[in-house]
Amino acid sequence: MERLSVESIEKGLTTTFMGRRVIYYRSIGSTNDVARELAVRGAPEGTLVIADEQTAGKGRLGRRWLAPPGTSLLISLLFRPHFLAPYKAQRLTMICSLAVVDAISEVTGLLAAIKWPNDIVVQGKKAGGILTELGATGGRLDYAVVGLGLNVNLDFGAVETMGELAATATSLSQELGREVSRLALLWRILENIEGRYQRLGAGELPHGEWASRLVTLHNHVMVDTPQGVVEGWAEGVDADGALILRTNCGECQRVLAGDVTLRKR
Ligand code: BTN
Repeated sequence: MERLSVESIEKGLTTTFMGRRVIYYRSIGSTNDVARELAVRGAPEGTLVIADEQTAGKGRLGRRWLAPPGTSLLISLLFRPHFLAPYKAQRLTMICSLAVVDAISEVTGLLAAIKWPNDIVVQGKKAGGILTELGATGGRLDYAVVGLGLNVNLDFGAVETMGELAATATSLSQELGREVSRLALLWRILENIEGRYQRLGAGELPHGEWASRLVTLHNHVMVDTPQGVVEGWAEGVDADGALILRTNCGECQRVLAGDVTLRKR
């Protein structure tokens, strides 16, 4: 198994600030929690927290994120996007998910896509997810922590405790039939994020490109939101990442958070 360490990560990194400060753990509760603590204590933008194992990995909507040790990329990146109002923070998640799908195809040749809002999918199955957590005061973003879990070298069918996920989840090695370098992926992800983040800061809007990579659009969908289930035709997304649904009574509804199921008609 390829070993992760501060030295091995720094060795091949070509970025200016993204991932230039690396905090590595063999095992930790949640890299997002560590990154948030560091953010509050003034850590610089671009700080990378990375672990081989999480004992309390967090997913979206209060769920857990599970990954056997050494199989995945489990990373959290600290941003200080003072140019973004908190309600525009999904733009940061958009550029990170675009950076990840690009890195997957650059390093492995696999075609990856995005399932609204933050899932990375390969061959229709979930290969990764992003959890963004914000710190804001007085309507201003102090920091954003973007956490990525990417299933790299893992066979869901072979892991007894994860077998039930095999129907909906996959990994890059499972799709390719060979192992993939986590380091090569990490370097490419960080480089892609840095470039896209600079362009976001310069005023570039990512939602058009993001929409073009979403598997969710132009389908009948059911969205399980914190307010209940909404159903309709996924027409598009707006600049802040909200899903625009045309409901069965012909009205348009803007959905900000939830889990999507594509419905066959
Ligand atoms: C999802 O629910 O799809 C988002 C999963 C995000 C998981 C990553 S793993 C690294 C980082 N630390 C965490 O505790 N969660 C994120």
